[in-house]
Amino acid sequence: MLTSSKISNGINGSAKVPGDKSISHRSIIIPSIAKGITEINNILQSDDVIKTINAFKLMGVKILEKKNNLTIFGNGLYSLSKPKTRINLGNSGTTTRLLIGLLSAQNFSSSLYGDKSLSNRPMGRIINPLVEMGAKIESRKNTLPIKIIGNNLKGIDYELDIASAQVKSGIALAALYSNNKTEIVEKNTTRDHTENMLKLFGANIQIKKINQNKHIIINGNKELKSKNISVPNDLSSAAFFIVAALINENSEIELKNINLNPTRCGFITAIKKMGAKILIKNKKENNGEIVGDINVKSSKLNGCELDKEMAKLMIDEFPILSIAASFASTPSRFKGLEELKVKESDRLELIRYNLENCGIFCKVENNDLFIDPTKKLDTKSNIIKTNSDHRIAMAFAIMGTKLGIKLKIQESEFIKTSFPNFQKEINSLGGRVSE
Ligand code: S3P
Repeated sequence: MLTSSKISNGINGSAKVPGDKSISHRSIIIPSIAKGITEINNILQSDDVIKTINAFKLMGVKILEKKNNLTIFGNGLYSLSKPKTRINLGNSGTTTRLLIGLLSAQNFSSSLYGDKSLSNRPMGRIINPLVEMGAKIESRKNTLPIKIIGNNLKGIDYELDIASAQVKSGIALAALYSNNKTEIVEKNTTRDHTENMLKLFGANIQIKKINQNKHIIINGNKELKSKNISVPNDLSSAAFFIVAALINENSEIELKNINLNPTRCGFITAIKKMGAKILIKNKKENNGEIVGDINVKSSKLNGCELDKEMAKLMIDEFPILSIAASFASTPSRFKGLEELKVKESDRLELIRYNLENCGIFCKVENNDLFIDPTKKLDTKSNIIKTNSDHRIAMAFAIMGTKLGIKLKIQESEFIKTSFPNFQKEINSLGGRVSE
């Protein structure tokens, strides 16, 4: 259990933000089925990413690890071998949904399982389109554990009904193995790291914009060619430090080489709308992604209203944005957050529950989150319930830097699924987070 106490001298300096989690997963999966050697630097070394590395080792891929650098010896699309044991996916939803797609198209069967939180998460959203492609998947109620009997898949036309990059990516990976065309239609923008990396690796992939919708057209059975990757740092992890600096007086931080992919930048737009003093410098392209440095200073924040479309561009940042909203001068309303209910926990309910315990007025109405920091309530409890959710744990550790009562964060060990050095880094900036 971590505790987080109020600070008095601000959040200052420059912290090391870890490599991007989404890009790290893809930097293992795609090189493992490409031809040639891929060197990857700045990979995130966290529990979730280790699960992806182990899965591919189990399927016979040679992967050398040296701190944050990986060397992957890819042998082509059809080089994976049947795993000798069941694949343990731990807490990682991204590994699971992307692998279900990839494994459906292999010429062997495999079994996947995960921890309690992952075993409760919906997999029907990825299983259904894959079954349309001819996949053979056995599960109870579309949740883990799952058995996949590899099969020849056919391409499909599929309109994503849920805005999910994981589903899009799972279908895209399966499509690499089919003889004909797959066309995925995306009405709502979600992160596009899979498309970017597949392009970089020479896949037969085209992106078209037709009537406001994005069409991703993939023709399979083309070998991918290895390409070295430098993983940018994760904006979703940087967001915790950014909010810590915004809400605490006398703060100024500098975060370097942060992933600023436009499909991930909703959080920056949102905090700017709230009056954040934030500067982006040295913006440049890196392996099909955009990176830059971020400077943030303490700011007098106002509340804001965010519409449903914004939610897709910042789906992982609502726990920490809610902390920023709790110290604003006016109320905030964040709309259309139903997807938050099926993340590592029911984030919508846990944000509400924990904010209320911290004395912040908060309501969930039709999947909208309403936070009114002008109504002062009594604090009810200093125990933060996380239901094994890393982002809830880190968000409330940041709440603790400002609140005035020492917060005790349950199941904080799950922070290592995405940010193992969180405690060290926040403390290096002036935080008071301890065991
Ligand atoms: C991710 C996509 C998002 C996000 C998750 C990582 C990815 O999930 O919440 O943390 O790497 O593709 P959904 O695609 O299910 O929204």
